[in-house]
Amino acid sequence: MAGYLLSLDQGTTSSRAILFTPDGAVLASQQQEFAQIFPQPGWVEHDPQAIWDSTLNSARRVLQQTGIGADEIIAAGITNQRETTLLWDRHTGEPLYNAIVWQDRRTAELCQRLQRQSGAEALVRERTGLLLDPYFSATKLMWLLEHIPGARERAERGELAFGTVDTFLLWRLSGGKVHATDATNAARTMLFNIHTQQWDADLLRLFDIPAELLPDVKDSAAEFGTMEASLLGAAVPVRGMAGDQQAALIGQACLQPGMAKSTYGTGCFMVLNTGTRALQSEHRLLTTVAYRLQGQPVYALEGSIFMAGATLQWIRDGLRLISSAGECQSLAEATGYNNPVYMVPAFTGLGAPYWDPQARGAIMGLSRDTGIKEIVTAGLQAVCYQSRDLLQAMAQDGVQPQVLRVDGGMVVNDWLMQFLADILGITIARPRVTETTALGAALLAGLQAGVFQDTDDLQRVWQHDRTYQPQLAAAQREALYQGWQQAVQRVRSSD
Ligand code: G3P
Repeated sequence: MAGYLLSLDQGTTSSRAILFTPDGAVLASQQQEFAQIFPQPGWVEHDPQAIWDSTLNSARRVLQQTGIGADEIIAAGITNQRETTLLWDRHTGEPLYNAIVWQDRRTAELCQRLQRQSGAEALVRERTGLLLDPYFSATKLMWLLEHIPGARERAERGELAFGTVDTFLLWRLSGGKVHATDATNAARTMLFNIHTQQWDADLLRLFDIPAELLPDVKDSAAEFGTMEASLLGAAVPVRGMAGDQQAALIGQACLQPGMAKSTYGTGCFMVLNTGTRALQSEHRLLTTVAYRLQGQPVYALEGSIFMAGATLQWIRDGLRLISSAGECQSLAEATGYNNPVYMVPAFTGLGAPYWDPQARGAIMGLSRDTGIKEIVTAGLQAVCYQSRDLLQAMAQDGVQPQVLRVDGGMVVNDWLMQFLADILGITIARPRVTETTALGAALLAGLQAGVFQDTDDLQRVWQHDRTYQPQLAAAQREALYQGWQQAVQRVRSSD
């Protein structure tokens, strides 16, 4: 089919627009960073206007760069940082507050209060597959309704709209005509029943959320609406949507049960396809919707850790130990595996499998000869140890993958990938296109547009770049990992 697929990938630190050819090759890409707002310790916000401007600018620039007209785009897909919560006025389109970002911990106490409510945690777990943690949208939305004067009354009168970033972008792209999300994003709100695929009345009651606020929930490949022609120069149809980690699963072609991917972006998200079975984890992993096509949900088990690339960003911008992430590899090579320094990057608490929002970060094992290279290496190693925590939890749930497909900005670091293979003890596979998140959204849009016939067709797009095999002796692997487990124990607020 002639034409292109446009992917809008709205992430935590930047927005991107990527043009793909119908066979899944990247034609051009544009990216714009935007400010992170930290009003108080543990709080993280984004300016909704910055989310919008950076997305639109990236889309315009990618068309300018290539000279491709919007009328040559077959379909667009949206993928996004998940859980981040926005509330806006349905008439003016104006947000009532900044977007409260997924990393934000302001509702930690609120979650603890709800946890004490008999049956609340079990209800959340059973209906949503999630844990009662500030990470998800429900308590963020509750906070907005409680803290913005008049918001609750206006919400009840149907004047306001809630959305995660996908919904907000679609609303703006369609000129306020469409208020919709897809099942993968809905699954992260803690208000959506992943078994019935409906907003859940009991959960709305628990979190005191007026149903008038909620968007329609569609398949991940669907007719989401049309972009206003004035934005890009032609009315582009939006036909794909998925949360960024689910989109990456699709871009990695993990479309069969048992296949898994891990994305090393701001955080790290390991997602394992479990097919049409919503497997309930016994080890504090999340059950989530991987994608929904033609009304049929496919489920996944997910391990989410909050700090991966963001740890290096902190080492670069906060500590100023390096001037670019590219320096890390040679520093790690000079340090080697047997680094006595451990860093636990619990800057915004610990995610899976610990779920400890009160924990805070630490660097341990410092001595007089500790230098920059050991600290940087500890930051890299922490990413791999946390991945091991997730893989171990999956194995304990009886579903350990044999190969882990990796993507995200950090996977260009060969030292990191080899250490990952060694600490996990399984094969690591890196694809040729590491823009898998954006690719996933483009594939969904292409599926809906008929560029691809079915998921088998999507599978053929994935191309292998390099694999890393574990080489470390098991005893050494376990000794290193034990050091990590001891370090984590020391930062936890409780067991
Ligand atoms: O759940 C949060 C996740 O979707 C954020 O992803 O790529 O922006 O770090 P990323």
